[in-house]
Amino acid sequence: MRVYVFNGPNLGRLGSRQVDVYGVTSYADLVELCESTGRALGLAVTVRQTDAEHELIGWLHTAADEGAAVVLNPAAWSHYSIAVRDACALLRGPLVEVHISNIHAREEFRHHSVVSAVATGVICGLGVDGYRLALHHLAARTDQAG
Ligand code: DQA
Repeated sequence: MRVYVFNGPNLGRLGSRQVDVYGVTSYADLVELCESTGRALGLAVTVRQTDAEHELIGWLHTAADEGAAVVLNPAAWSHYSIAVRDACALLRGPLVEVHISNIHAREEFRHHSVVSAVATGVICGLGVDGYRLALHHLAARTDQAG
């Protein structure tokens, strides 16, 4: 199964960005984690990050056209981008929303994600392990679908 792992703004700075909140894993390490997990699970995983909203929306359109599964950390766009949410609503495959930090335990403006209502499920607060868990879930779903 094809799986896209999309990351929103500032996640390219992982490893140096607020390490007390996001941990010391670098973005390169996160890519490697997702790719190696995908290989072990037999998933074709493509990992991308962008700071440009229109770029993410274009990637989501392609994923929708392909019927692909998506793991998405919308980062700050989670909290206000109706355009990202609407693009997520076009997806035909499962969508797992991931947040590295526990957004519910942080500033109030982070408590609500406009994406969550159109996601299949949400993982938050488990660090970068959330991505690995999301990929395991998608692989298990595929097995169940036969
Ligand atoms: C985040 C949480 C968001 O509130 C924040 O804007 C991010 C990262 C997370 O992974 O915990 O950039 O999505």
